[in-house]
Amino acid sequence: MHDQSVSVGRYYDRAGALFLRFGRGRESGAIHRPVWAPGVSHLQDAVSFVNRQLLMCMREVRAVDVLDLGCGVGGTIAYLRARQKARYTGITLSRTQAEEAGRRLHPADGPDDASSKIIQGNFAVLDTHEVQAGSYDLVYAVESMVHLASVDTFFASAARYGRPDSTLIVIDDFQKRFPLEGSARYRRFQTYTWGWRVPSVVSYDELVSAARRHGYRLEEFRDWTVYVSAHGTRDYLLRVFVPFLKLGSRYSEWCRSMVGGDALKRLLLEEVVGYGFFRFSLTR
Ligand SMILES: C[S@@+](CC[C@H](N)C(=O)[O-])C[C@H]1O[C@@H](n2cnc3c(N)ncnc32)[C@H](O)[C@@H]1O
Repeated sequence: MHDQSVSVGRYYDRAGALFLRFGRGRESGAIHRPVWAPGVSHLQDAVSFVNRQLLMCMREVRAVDVLDLGCGVGGTIAYLRARQKARYTGITLSRTQAEEAGRRLHPADGPDDASSKIIQGNFAVLDTHEVQAGSYDLVYAVESMVHLASVDTFFASAARYGRPDSTLIVIDDFQKRFPLEGSARYRRFQTYTWGWRVPSVVSYDELVSAARRHGYRLEEFRDWTVYVSAHGTRDYLLRVFVPFLKLGSRYSEWCRSMVGGDALKRLLLEEVVGYGFFRFSLTR
């Protein structure tokens, strides 16, 4: 079997440790982008920005059953759990991520905490009593939706897990402009979706329409593109190494991801790709 979920799971199994080591979320376990919104002046604040927004939503809707679709190593759950009492469930495709999340949330020398659990599996086809259909009042997905083979599959899954009237938050990339086929930007977009294994970077309209088809109404959208597009020294350094990383990408998921990440940085600046916060409510 060689479908999208198998390759994404393998991608995080193989490169996940390097994402944490060389990424910005080594301490916090965040495998998402720092967001330099107004008022954010430190890297740790930028890295936890996404988590803070989720915490605010969680408090607003008084969520007690929370589901993290694509939980990585459990960084967001650890952040929320430390601040808000609830029952948390996280799902990741990657076995190594699930193990790391288990260590992070349930350290051998820590108190026994039954408020969170991590499941390794594909949330689009999961068949386990541990994640009950229709039982979550907040479902969120941070930078995981784009990994699915289609956004319809993503929203169908989210809708299956959410209670009627529940909230769904999606924080992810979407396509803002459509470069001409064959142009340099078009090739960059291909490099990014290939490098990051993200076939579902769709337009705002496509995303919202797919959500609607599965019973979701858009309540709020925030465009954070300019907050993630700034270039730092590491981005310029990365660009220098891209030709070598391209050679390595045949053998290494991490090299492939670095090549994709370089393309994405430019696409964000050019506003071909955007980064957004989408808040939906389930109307059935
Ligand atoms: C970029 S990481 C984001 C991790 C986490 N949300 C965070 O912000 O730190 C993407 C995550 O989505 C997960 N993922 C993607 N597709 C999935 C699927 N179909 N089922 C379960 N997890 C999935 C991957 O395993 C990975 O943990």
